[in-house]
Amino acid sequence: MSLNNQWMQRDLAVLWHPCTQMKDHEQLPLVPIKRGEGVWLEDFDGKRYLDAVSSWWVNVFGHANPRINQRIKDQVDQLEHVILAGFSHQPVIELSERLVKLTPAGLDRVFYADNGSSGIEVALKMSFHFWRNTGQERKKRFITLTNSYHGETIAAMSVGDVALFTETYKSLLMDTIKVPSPDCYLRPEGVSWEEHSRVMFGQMEQALAENHQDVAAVIIEPLIQGAGGMRMYHPVYLKLLREACDRYGVHLIHDEIAVGFGRTGTLFACEQAGIAPDFLCLSKALTGGYLPMAAVLTSEAIYQGFYDDYQTLRAFLHSHTYTGNPLACAAALATLDIFEQDNVIEANKALSARMASATAHLVDHPHVAEVRQTGMVLAIEMVQDKASKTPYPWQERRGLKVFQHALERGALLRPLGSVVYFLPPYVITPEQIDFLAEVASEGIDIATANSTSVPVSGRHPNFRDPG
Ligand SMILES: Cc1ncc(COP(=O)(O)O)c(C=O)c1O
Repeated sequence: MSLNNQWMQRDLAVLWHPCTQMKDHEQLPLVPIKRGEGVWLEDFDGKRYLDAVSSWWVNVFGHANPRINQRIKDQVDQLEHVILAGFSHQPVIELSERLVKLTPAGLDRVFYADNGSSGIEVALKMSFHFWRNTGQERKKRFITLTNSYHGETIAAMSVGDVALFTETYKSLLMDTIKVPSPDCYLRPEGVSWEEHSRVMFGQMEQALAENHQDVAAVIIEPLIQGAGGMRMYHPVYLKLLREACDRYGVHLIHDEIAVGFGRTGTLFACEQAGIAPDFLCLSKALTGGYLPMAAVLTSEAIYQGFYDDYQTLRAFLHSHTYTGNPLACAAALATLDIFEQDNVIEANKALSARMASATAHLVDHPHVAEVRQTGMVLAIEMVQDKASKTPYPWQERRGLKVFQHALERGALLRPLGSVVYFLPPYVITPEQIDFLAEVASEGIDIATANSTSVPVSGRHPNFRDPG
């Protein structure tokens, strides 16, 4: 039995994997990874896979990056962890100073959590609590966009719109106000991204006008709705939303957990609209993809809404055990050093252009409705009918065919439903981008062969799955 097989069997005897129908592994081999280096992951039988999805969008400077490794090694000899309530440490102070400097003006306070969903919970609770502390108890609802994703905990699911969850767990969720997404895939023919985003903003304006007295915050994924299929929209929406939130006295929460740290072409997506949200949630690439950590940045004004004598009970008594973990902070500091020293955002422009040119031919593919791109994220939408953009029935699991083909060819491409996308580490080379485009094209040809016209019932229930 191969080493891969041995590890797979031991794994399947005891593990329950995330976002997986475990029965799939009766047919679909699990890939046990032995080591990583740069964009490559290597299994126990020595086969390599190019990590085109940055291992769930976290990795930015490659696996086992020597500069990040060294910083963590140095830190582990110094201090591995310390409680962050009543105590502090050098990496968390330095990281907070740097995040405040790097993010738009007005975000002056940093609160830590230990994964993206927990970061979202922090922002939602802080917003609600701020209004309560300032005597506006009515403001406790949240506005969110359709097709959005903010994580898996109960409140994060409540502000998300992934059909499987809203259906299965509906009775557990908070009642939120859902406004149609500015998703430009759905724009009428001949209409620009900017115009469509402006027009769609009308419905947000209306929701705010009608509900603002009861609304604590609007929460959005800026520019790219990731788990919802890498659907994209124009920065003008963010600008209009900032202005409206100010007008109506509603907080704006930017969930940049997936899009922060250069994915959209700027260090943070909000820069493209020239605005600052009231809460900026960061995670994933924050630590270069090494360790789980989230940071929620907010304003001094919101911080002051909690600052009082203990007996007033205004404090934000929220904590996660590993808050501000020194090893995670060290990884984050090393990551920020690389962004700065290597002028990464500028250098990425050439890679982003190469992603576009390498996939340009797919625009004419008979089963590709759209090839869209924002910065370092490129998505290819497979459909059964190009002219009408009729999707494939999700039950056919066309994306899974691309995933399987890519594995054979030595790439980790994990489509979201029928959306094949590249979200690679920034250490990818132009030639490796060409290789990915080749693998994706072949995979799309295989997956879209035999496209008989079938009626479609409902959209894919869970876009995080490649099914
Ligand atoms: C936009 C966005 N928000 C929140 C999360 C949740 O982060 P985590 O999986 O670390 O809980 C994700 C994860 O994919 C995400 O894409």
